[in-house]
Amino acid sequence: MKDSDSIVELKKTGSADVGFLSFFESQRDVPFEIKRVYYIYDVPAGTKRGMHAHRKLRQFLWCPYGAIKLVLDNGIEKKEYILDSPEKGLYVGEGVWRDMYWLKDNSVLCVAASDYYDESDYIRDYGEFLRLVREAYWKDENKL
Ligand code: TYD
Repeated sequence: MKDSDSIVELKKTGSADVGFLSFFESQRDVPFEIKRVYYIYDVPAGTKRGMHAHRKLRQFLWCPYGAIKLVLDNGIEKKEYILDSPEKGLYVGEGVWRDMYWLKDNSVLCVAASDYYDESDYIRDYGEFLRLVREAYWKDENKL
């Protein structure tokens, strides 16, 4: 998986009678070693979050409940994804600006990340993000 973002269909077991179980595995379904998992919840519909990029961090996002729109931007082009199924995950590589829109109340966004929390890995200024893209900070890694 070389692209900076891609939808991953999660494996699924179970049946309608007893419910379903989906799963993914570090370095198998997700192209990095998972060091941290976090989740965002109790968010009202209409909320916008994100508005940052990461220098090195890679992430895998999934929405087990609800619907969330992600707008990914590599500084040259933008792509939209809607996470609205527990069977779907989205890999986001480094160097990608993301805006996230809660489409339904209480949608839950879960994230598996390649590293521990480090505020210095965040780029929260869009102008700085564009400057790094122009300087080819991520070279070929942030093609959408
Ligand atoms: P942030 O990643 O900016 O959330 P979002 O992109 O959804 O708006 O994180 C929000 C706050 O939470 C920020 O102040 C940092 C803190 N935080 C941690 O302390 N540890 C973590 O693992 C994460 C992801 C965030």
